[in-house]
Order: sequence, then C-alpha cells, then structure tokens
Amino acid sequence: MATTSVPTAPGAEWWRHAVVYQIYPRSFADGNSDGTGDIPGIRARLPHLIDLGVDAIWVSPWYPSPLLDGGYDVADYRNIAERFGTLDDARAFIADAHAAGIRVIVDLVPNHTSWDHEWFTAARSAPSGSAERRRYMIRPGRGVDGELPPNNWTAVFGGSAWTRLDDGEWYLHLFDESQPDLDWTNPEVRAEFIDILLFWIRLGVDGFRVDVAHGLVKDPTLPDVAVNEGILESALIENHPHWDRDGVHEIIREWRAVLDAEQAEHGRDLMMVAEAWVHPTSLPKYLRPDEYHQSFNFDFLQCEWEAGLMREAVDRALAGSEAVGSSPTWALSNHDVVRHATRYGLPPETDWRAWLLDGPHDALDAALGLRRARAAALLLLALPGSTYLYQGEELGLGEVFDLPTDVLDDPVWENSGRTRKGRDGCRVPIPWTVAGSSYGFGEKGSWLPQPARFAALSVEAQSGDPDSTLELHRRAIAIRREMWIDAGALEWSNKFTREEEQVLCLRRGDMTCLVNFGSEPVALPAGAVVLSSEPLRTDGLLPGPAAAWIRTD
Ligand code: NOJ
Repeated sequence: MATTSVPTAPGAEWWRHAVVYQIYPRSFADGNSDGTGDIPGIRARLPHLIDLGVDAIWVSPWYPSPLLDGGYDVADYRNIAERFGTLDDARAFIADAHAAGIRVIVDLVPNHTSWDHEWFTAARSAPSGSAERRRYMIRPGRGVDGELPPNNWTAVFGGSAWTRLDDGEWYLHLFDESQPDLDWTNPEVRAEFIDILLFWIRLGVDGFRVDVAHGLVKDPTLPDVAVNEGILESALIENHPHWDRDGVHEIIREWRAVLDAEQAEHGRDLMMVAEAWVHPTSLPKYLRPDEYHQSFNFDFLQCEWEAGLMREAVDRALAGSEAVGSSPTWALSNHDVVRHATRYGLPPETDWRAWLLDGPHDALDAALGLRRARAAALLLLALPGSTYLYQGEELGLGEVFDLPTDVLDDPVWENSGRTRKGRDGCRVPIPWTVAGSSYGFGEKGSWLPQPARFAALSVEAQSGDPDSTLELHRRAIAIRREMWIDAGALEWSNKFTREEEQVLCLRRGDMTCLVNFGSEPVALPAGAVVLSSEPLRTDGLLPGPAAAWIRTD
C-alpha cells in the first residue's frame, strides 16, 4: 500500500485514528551484534509490527549523539548515529515501512543540542556576545565576579540549570549539562530547524514528534522562579519563565506552514505531535488548526487506575481536542515513565519514580498490574483518536525496577545525587525469543541486562498462545480497524457505568467497551462479545479487573 501519495480529506487524516508504535532504537533489535539496537535490527523485526497491525512507527532519536541523555542530546540533526546505521539504512527502513503501509515519524529535538554539536563547540571558544554564542542562552553570572549563575533555575534532571564556560560566562540547560538550550529569539536558530524539517520530509518521513515542545521560549529577563518544582509540577505554574510561554506558538505556526506547504506541493500527508507537559487547559492552544496536529495526553497517562478519574481524564481530552478541531491521543507508557503494567500493580498514589529506588519492591503485585494493563489496552484502543504504544507494551512488559545501580545510564541517576533511579528500567531491550543471548535482541548480549522473567514474555513465547498479551493486542488492533475507527462519537452508558462500583461503559455506535476496574464480576450489556481481556466466567459475567468489547446489532 502506498502511503505518501495522496493527502486525505481534512478530518479523515491518517493520524487522527492511527495506532502509532514507539521504537526506542537502542533497545528494539540489534542487527550488528554490538549490544545496541540499530536500524538493520528494526528492519529485520518489521514483520512483528506488520503482524501487530500498527499504522505508524515513531522512532526516538537516531541521530549522532554522545548518548548522555539517551539520544535526546543531538550532535548532528541531519545524520544517523554510526551505532544505529547510516542514512541509507534510514531510507531503506522508511521504504520498507511504506511498502507495508506503515508511516514513519521521527523525533525533532529543538530545545537544546548536544554539547558535541558543532554550534556549541564553536560557541565555547568564541568570545562573549559573538554570533556563535548568540545561538545559545549564554549569559554573564551574578555576584562580584560573575561567580553565581544568572538565576536560580534548576535542571529537570537535578542541579542548577546553568553551567559555567571557561571564560566565566554561563550557559543554560533545562536538562543535562550536556544539553545546552538554544536561543529561539535568534533567526538563525529558527531557519536551521526549518531546514532540518525539510531535510527529513524530503528523506521520506511522514511526521515529527517534537521534544519539550513547551520549553523553547524563555522570559528574556530570566527572572528567578519562586519555587523550583519538577517538570510536571512547574508546568502548572502560571506565567512560568521557561515553560509554556506564549511565544512558542509563533514558532509552531512557522513549522506548521512548512509542513502544509510541503503537503500541498508534493502530495504528502504530514503531521507533528507535541510533547508538551502543560496544564490540560493550556494544551488545546497547541492544537489550533495552524499549530500541532496532535499532542500527547499526559493527563491521561498519569491517571490512577480508578474509574471516575479515568472517565474525567477521557472527557477532558475529548473536550480539549474537539474545541480546536484536533483529535485526542492516548498513551500509557513511553521511554520516560515507569511502564504501566508496573504502575498499575502498585498501591494507589505510590510515587512510582521514587518507588524505583526506595521501594518497597514487594508492594508490587505484578499479576494485578498485568491484568489491569490488558484491560487498559482495550479501553485505549476503543477510544476515538489515536493510540501510542511503547515498544514491549504489547508483550505486557513491566518495568525492570531491579536494575543494579552500577548499570544505570540515565543522567537522572547522577544528577539527582543518586536519589532518583531514572528511566533505564523502561528501556531494557526487548525479548524476542525464549532462549539465546539477550533473548533474541542480538547475538552479543544487550546494553542493559534483561531479567530472566523476560523469556516467558518474549514474542516467541507469546505468539500463537490465544491467552497471551501479544495475541490480545494483535486481535484488538485488527478488530479496532474494522469496528471502532468509524464507530462515531463516544457516549457513556448510564445504565452500565457505575463509578462507585468501578465500572465504566462507553458506547460508540453499535460498539460498546465495558471496563471493570474493580475485583467483583459484573454483567455485560446484551450483544456479541467480540473480545475480552480475560475469559468470561461460566455465568457470563466479566471478572475484574478486565475489559470487554461488545457489539450490538
Ligand atoms: C523529553 C524526552 O522524552 C526525554 O527522554 C528527554 O530526556 C527530554 N525530553 C530532554 O530532551
């Protein structure tokens, strides 16, 4: 199936209802046996994604990078890291994916470069105030000799957001010190990123996932912040000096115009999805018709496994995206958060980031987490909009919370003074086979150790087992395509939704999805059960926690 020739009519674009599979390239499949995933590995495993039935693949950064933040520290935006392959490998992968009817989205990282980027190397040795320095947020310090950072901002990964250069000036980095923030008031920076967009569009990609979409613009007076909170909490503060500032919208509109022009001129069907950790009431602004096509829905991702809260999060997302003519997205995991099969197995209100290090690890009920994750998959795939699945989610992988601290690679570990374990536990390489070196990930081990429990979760172990999480996903995605995509608007069924009893029931046309969040069995609406995340009981009731799809004639 050709995927790049004819743009679809407004309102029916592919991204509005796509199942998008996120590949974290280091950890997907290793084609050259060096312990790190790569593009030949992805190409070899493409049949898995074809069998799964996904519509698009989002590839996390594959660019040259010192990997001090897992690739979100880009040293060259127009190339592929040697460890992952070559530009020709990327072209071949995109061609393979397109031939299978699968679109490809790449990551755009505009807030910061790597300190290995040639611009930053030049800025380091250039004089104060030079054109090279003006591409970044470089300022003199405070104090008698400028020995204090320009303000009190802290980096998301911990520590000050400022690091001093050899000549005494300071550069801003909202993340790791290896990720200097660009100055988006500089026209050269803006022109450069338009060129980067065009480079990848012309190479054949179908869209962009935009990193830290809410962070590009800073208050030019660089005021101190009143409270230094984490990325999630501070995004909720009004008029924050570096998150969610109005100026970002002008930049987004510029990018959107580029995509629209390419689309009109070359018959493409392009999209951009924003990673914007902003307040749900602010998010629709990013989704106006001349801005992002979509954004991630972190409000839903972070929701506790609780019927009333989930329903509210669904309603907020539907209302927010409808108000601006966008369509909602749903995701429960990605490369930055504890996998939801684990989160859902923890006691309510556990701070899961802290739990990784602090435990107690025996508080985890992994079997319960997996049952809930299977039910959640049916909820996600029944909702109007598009679904983002993170690699391994289709296998029911949980977080590898017990990684020994000496293998941790995420800068969060060191930058937090070893008080936060970071995100490695959701980035452990995928198990493909029951046995063999690194469970089929590659032939020579894997860059992070995989636990023995991965064998039973491998693609090989689950394929063909009708009760497996993998087969559940395969069936669900196939049925979704046939029965849910055009099923129409969502309504909650008053008869079957009973939040106090932990039951949600949504209807779209003749399709119904009932989710039993609790542990008591519940009755299902009349109709044919087309799929359920657990077998129905002999009395026809749906056990809990579980979900079922029902078709009424
Ligand atoms: C968000 C990315 O998803 C994350 O992995 C990265 O560390 C930060 N942005 C900084 O680029």
